[in-house]
Amino acid sequence: MEIIHVSAECYPVAKAGGLGDVVGALPKYQCKAGHIAKVVMPMYRTKFLYDNEWTVDFKGSANLGNWFFDFTIIKEPTNKLGFDLFLVDINGLLDRQKIYGYDDDPERFTAFQIAVVSWMSSWEHQPDIVHCHDHHTGFIPFMMQYCYDFARLRNVPSIFTIHNAQYQGWMGWDKSRYIPRWDLWKRGMLDWADSMNPLASAVKCAAKITTVSWSYLNELRVNSNGLEKLFEYEKGKCLGILNGIDNDVWDPATDKYLESHFSVKTVTRGKQKNKALLCSQFGLDPEKPLFVFIGRLVGEKAADILPDAIKSALYHMPDQACFLVLGSGETQVEWAFQQMTEPYKGSFNTVIGYDETLSHKMYAGADFLLMPSRVEPCGLNQMYAMRYGTVPIVRSTGGLQDTVVDMGDPDGFGVRFNHASVSDVEYSIGRAISVYKDSEHMEKMRKHMMQIDHSWESTVDQYTAVYESVR
Ligand code: ADP
Ligand code: GLC
Repeated sequence: MEIIHVSAECYPVAKAGGLGDVVGALPKYQCKAGHIAKVVMPMYRTKFLYDNEWTVDFKGSANLGNWFFDFTIIKEPTNKLGFDLFLVDINGLLDRQKIYGYDDDPERFTAFQIAVVSWMSSWEHQPDIVHCHDHHTGFIPFMMQYCYDFARLRNVPSIFTIHNAQYQGWMGWDKSRYIPRWDLWKRGMLDWADSMNPLASAVKCAAKITTVSWSYLNELRVNSNGLEKLFEYEKGKCLGILNGIDNDVWDPATDKYLESHFSVKTVTRGKQKNKALLCSQFGLDPEKPLFVFIGRLVGEKAADILPDAIKSALYHMPDQACFLVLGSGETQVEWAFQQMTEPYKGSFNTVIGYDETLSHKMYAGADFLLMPSRVEPCGLNQMYAMRYGTVPIVRSTGGLQDTVVDMGDPDGFGVRFNHASVSDVEYSIGRAISVYKDSEHMEKMRKHMMQIDHSWESTVDQYTAVYESVR
């Protein structure tokens, strides 16, 4: 099948979080399984763009309301990522360094989607599936069906994957003029609560909806930032497919970011070496259990409770643990962590920012990974941690609940708790400190986790089945 993935992120071209990882990996494994998977995304001004050669694939023009714009689609010609990669260039809108966070994001991503659909409808053939990811691509199923100019794509099925339903891309109805000539009777397919809502529109218009874990799908019916009734109504066409991880990139035996490699057999020694390097870099004691947090410092991740939880743990269990935090996000949370470095020197350190290399070193060198997320559609961090023999400490929600088994259960290997609260996190840290003292138990858990199969190879077939069901 020819599958066109449309996304705002794709690792290593541009990544802000797990969406980038998924779109950088799934198509590669689909190609390995014999499909022709392609990715089309905006041409941001990232390092990857400048480091690689490109050929021009298509030049076109379109309208965003009254604004007439030209766009160019360039292609990476060597199949470097294991799939064909196309970037959409729109001067004045997409030629920026960052992926998101601009005031004109609605214009940027609407124009991007118009360019993608115009491009696809110019082809002589039609793709088998258009697979859209998150709200930045949420108008595409609507446009393929109800915009007169794209009538050629009307019968091409679209699949929409929800990586995060917290962000929906809402915009006022005044922006409906951006959508190219459309069937006005279908206004309801763009609307949710009197706004244009790309995520809701995709849920209504796509042939099938997938979420990135099973539990998250159930949660959306009770908690989805206003879309609960929609998910209840559309439940018949929704299903959960747990994300995989890219074992080529995330492998402690070959990881290009690590100085010291290890496998299941050598995990205890291997982690010790990585931990020693990390601890010496951050002034932490390698004899104590090392807890890390890696991620966006936002409410969804419950990063805001961590400063107090860590302080409280260090107060009640003095000299028994070290903490290292890598992340960026809300200013108050960044500030709260930065304020802790001096008073808790030797036990706590933080890097505020985004650092891919350091994240790999942390998965490899840590003993425990903290993920108290309030919302976690899938979560990749815990799966990376497991592959690197790091015990995940997670709140029981979404994909965390689907991937982590508490160490109290037979064959358990992680720590699970129920509330995103200081006391639950502190209690879980206490449980982790106790098990850390039992080196045999730690080794058993590490070896068990590292052998769990979260590979994309075993997930690709589930997507293929979804595609088959709508063709
Ligand atoms: P989300 O997409 O909601 O942020 P995921 O767990 O799916 O959460 O994916 C997060 C991805 O982003 C992981 O690959 C993680 O290692 C990476 N990541 C998050 N924050 C940082 C950071 N500050 N530096 C490096 N990598 C980060
Ligand atoms: C989103 C979710 C995260 C998920 C990722 C990849 O960013 O917040 O839980 O792992 O997408 O699907």
